[in-house]
Amino acid sequence: MTPNQDLSAAREALIEQAATFAHIECDFGAAKGKFLTESAVLNPSVFFAGIEGISSRVTRSNKKIQRLGIPNAALWRGWGKESLDALVPDSSLDTLHVSFPDPWPKRRHWFRRLVNPEFLAIAARKLKPAHDDYRGGILRLMTDHLGYFEAMKKHLAAQGGWVEVSWEDDLRRPITEFETIFLAKGDPIGRIALRRKS
Ligand SMILES: C[S@@+](CC[C@H](N)C(=O)[O-])C[C@H]1O[C@@H](n2cnc3c(N)ncnc32)[C@H](O)[C@@H]1O
Repeated sequence: MTPNQDLSAAREALIEQAATFAHIECDFGAAKGKFLTESAVLNPSVFFAGIEGISSRVTRSNKKIQRLGIPNAALWRGWGKESLDALVPDSSLDTLHVSFPDPWPKRRHWFRRLVNPEFLAIAARKLKPAHDDYRGGILRLMTDHLGYFEAMKKHLAAQGGWVEVSWEDDLRRPITEFETIFLAKGDPIGRIALRRKS
């Protein structure tokens, strides 16, 4: 995978494009942008920022967004937790989605899994903190790999500072590309949404 280039220009572009929106969500591993673009159409008052590691997917998705004239979505190319840290300002996200991250099922590959304590520490920092009138930003995780799901929950519990909330929320949530596949196969899917306490 191509390493991250300097993402400072991309960060500025994201800040500029999202500036007029009170709510910002990020889809990490946005793939071909199905969830991102459909979310943007269904929820026009929210800005949806996608991060995806494969450049061709980012280019194609952004072309589609431009062709359809969707003002509240864009993708940026970034790889790994470092790209989330570099692209997204701290305390800026209402919601961070990580849907079907690569499962790396073999134990010797677990070190490659995205959702680990380091990623969760960055995720926590990127979400808006709770205060009097705001319940705190939300992390939404989904995976078809139930072993990975258990590992995610273990890391979350060890880190602390998260409160599980209902998966259903106030926004209209389309299904993701991979969710479509697993639902069609009847595979079980682990889903968890958590609010950041402070
Ligand atoms: C299994 S697909 C899931 C796509 C989408 N989230 C969905 O639910 O349909 C994982 C996506 O994440 C991207 N990806 C995997 N690891 C990544 C990483 N470390 N950094 C950025 N993108 C990554 C892949 O290129 C792929 O598009």
